[in-house]
Amino acid sequence: MAIDVVVLPVAGLGSRFLPATKAIPKEMLPIVDVPLIQLAVEEAHRAGIRHVVLVTSSSKRAIEDHFDRASELELTLEARGKHDALALVRAALPPGMSVSVVRQSQPLGLGHAVLCAAPVVGDQPFAVMLPDDLIDGPGAGCLADMVALYEQAGACSLAVEEVPRDKTDKYGVVSLDGERITGMVEKPKPEVAPSTLAVVGRYVLPGAIFKALEQVKPGAGGEIQLTDGIAALLADVEFRAHRFAGTRYDCGGKLGHLQANLAYAFKDPELASALRSWMQSHLL
Ligand code: G1P
Repeated sequence: MAIDVVVLPVAGLGSRFLPATKAIPKEMLPIVDVPLIQLAVEEAHRAGIRHVVLVTSSSKRAIEDHFDRASELELTLEARGKHDALALVRAALPPGMSVSVVRQSQPLGLGHAVLCAAPVVGDQPFAVMLPDDLIDGPGAGCLADMVALYEQAGACSLAVEEVPRDKTDKYGVVSLDGERITGMVEKPKPEVAPSTLAVVGRYVLPGAIFKALEQVKPGAGGEIQLTDGIAALLADVEFRAHRFAGTRYDCGGKLGHLQANLAYAFKDPELASALRSWMQSHLL
């Protein structure tokens, strides 16, 4: 069975980025000139996924608008002969992709946000991406590798990376038998964390996750946690830890966001050379 749907939970407040996120969703913050949400959708497209389900809240309309046509802007750009800008505006949603929007009307947690997508996803396996976690990897990217793993070996998977032990309480943390995940706990204190292998924002999940999430009681932080839903399935469903290649930037925080901007700016030769000489004269 192919993975055709990605769920993007984007209803969160973005409180680590106030005041920038007072009126703009954090997922619309740019990495150089492309919003985080678009980078996530492009990674999903490279993974062969064609249907995006946005789980949003009332203050996040800008995200839906970003993937819609912008008739007035497009007409103006066309009339002014700005064809390159017009092409960029039209390419926000990659070819062949469609978008559905569901609302999470109460902020009850990541597990609850994913459960809100159930009526659209049905019981097929699907992917979840957290756009804050930007993964700059080789080839088609982290999610493409995880989708290939599902299609070739039938294994669901979670992207993981090593974190310092004093940071385990910011993540879901897994225990492993080989690469198979045998246990999972949300935001454990360093002294009780089962390992230092943390889940980052890429998941390939079975449709059965929805039934599991319906049963989950509020956990860490009083929220319905996706981690607890997955933990309930571990005995019956094979989940693998995917140690992705490349670099993950935590773009929900200032340092990660700045690092991602620099890393992506250096991919553009013209920008890289101007930035390098500015850094040499101002920083070194
Ligand atoms: C969420 C998940 C957590 C995961 C993290 C990755 O936490 O609940 O398991 O490790 O994303 O970024 P949040 O960052 O929303 O608190």
